[in-house]
Amino acid sequence: MTSTPVGTGTEHGPETVFTWGGPALKFGVDAVDEIGYDVAQLGASRVLVVTDPGVAATGLPHRVVETLRKAGLNAELFAGVHVEPTDASMKEAVEFAQGGDWDGFVAVGGGSSIDTAKAVNLMTSYPADLYDYINAPIGLGKAPAGPVKPLVAVPTTAGTGAESTTVCIMDLLDLRVKTGISHPRLRPVLAVVDPRVTLSLPPGVTAATGFDILCHALESYTARPYDSYPKRRPEERVAYCGANPVSDVWIQHTLPLLARSFRTAYRDGDDLAARTDMLQAALFAGLGFGNAGVHIPHACAYPIAGRVRGFHPVDYPDEEPMVPHGMSVVLTAPAAFRHTFDANPERHLWAAHALDPATDDLGEERERLPEAISRLMRDTGMPNGLSGVGYAADDVADLIGGALQQQRLLTIAPVDVNAELLEGIFTEALRVW
Ligand SMILES: NC(=O)c1ccc[n+]([C@@H]2O[C@H](COP(=O)([O-])OP(=O)(O)OC[C@H]3O[C@@H](n4cnc5c(N)ncnc54)[C@H](O)[C@@H]3O)[C@@H](O)[C@H]2O)c1
Ligand SMILES: [Zn+2]
Repeated sequence: MTSTPVGTGTEHGPETVFTWGGPALKFGVDAVDEIGYDVAQLGASRVLVVTDPGVAATGLPHRVVETLRKAGLNAELFAGVHVEPTDASMKEAVEFAQGGDWDGFVAVGGGSSIDTAKAVNLMTSYPADLYDYINAPIGLGKAPAGPVKPLVAVPTTAGTGAESTTVCIMDLLDLRVKTGISHPRLRPVLAVVDPRVTLSLPPGVTAATGFDILCHALESYTARPYDSYPKRRPEERVAYCGANPVSDVWIQHTLPLLARSFRTAYRDGDDLAARTDMLQAALFAGLGFGNAGVHIPHACAYPIAGRVRGFHPVDYPDEEPMVPHGMSVVLTAPAAFRHTFDANPERHLWAAHALDPATDDLGEERERLPEAISRLMRDTGMPNGLSGVGYAADDVADLIGGALQQQRLLTIAPVDVNAELLEGIFTEALRVW
């Protein structure tokens, strides 16, 4: 099945413009020790450092606070981020931040900390109800009234690419749905990316976050092209504009890094060269997907994470059941790319070869990318599909309903997505091998 052509023959014709944006970057070992200088250059003097308790336990956020203070800045630490933030945890962080007159923020952590800092920055710059900003139709999708304060991101996982993106994701507890806030003003102004800070990542987090990178790369590379949409006015342009030549370049450099270093970083966490490759891959994928967008596996991931019952992943906080973001995304990826193959066989085959050239030998071309993903999952301790995290065939209808709510992502898929297609994907994803 290929996508219905849109944008041709309409009043305005097809889109002719794409947009691309990213933060300023500082990359390399010990880059984090220069952060006092960098934040001072941004003109901030009262800075809140935002992190979660697990990252705080590594000592890195305290080191960042000290470096900021040495540069003459007034810096405090908030270490109360919830791993995989919720509307309630975002509000707690905002309430804490409202107690100070911050003119800059530094996020130290994975996507959970960076996204929380984005929400804190927005909500303290232009206070409103959280739902005013949350993406429509769940919230009102309002734009910030003006520029927010400078936010510097120090990613400590090699995964989300949240240091590059304009979105912040959260669980809305009452609605049992994961959604977010999306606006170019949320993007950090600077990403300080230091591979050494990822050496302390435990294998379970290395694996789950690594699959987030992989799916960002594969989904944005196979996304519907930007010029298959109808032309938009400038004020209608969305954060995710579809596959485009600039995002493609980043993705073409992401997959070889993952092929070379994912298994090594998982097996030997002290290997700085592998950690450097993984962090670079996360950054590259963020610069690609953060503009092009992601589609089916991410849309399916939201109900998989949101409806979890009893699963407790290794190496994550144990207080409550969870399916970590990257794990929730990859579980349906092999099935999803089987179903998107016909939309662009060349891209699926290129990706399979880049990830695992041994799959070139598989006779059935459609199976090469699913098999490359599945082999990597087996080598890095991922559960064997949805059944491995507690779902059964009679959950599929509920999961389909949740995925269909993610229309913002599904419209980026290279095929038309309906309940029948999702039923095939979720059912095949119950067991991957
Ligand atoms: N904004 C975006 O563009 C974007 C993209 C993808 C995902 N997300 C969101 O990001 C969140 C997931 O973020 P994540 O996958 O980066 O993980 P995370 O921030 O949730 O962290 C995962 C775990 O690893 C620990 N940890 C992080 N860095 C560590 C380090 N260096 N050493 C030891 N422990 C460390 C944390 O304490 C936590 O327990 C989800 O909420 C997801 O929806 C956002
Ligand atoms: Zn993701």
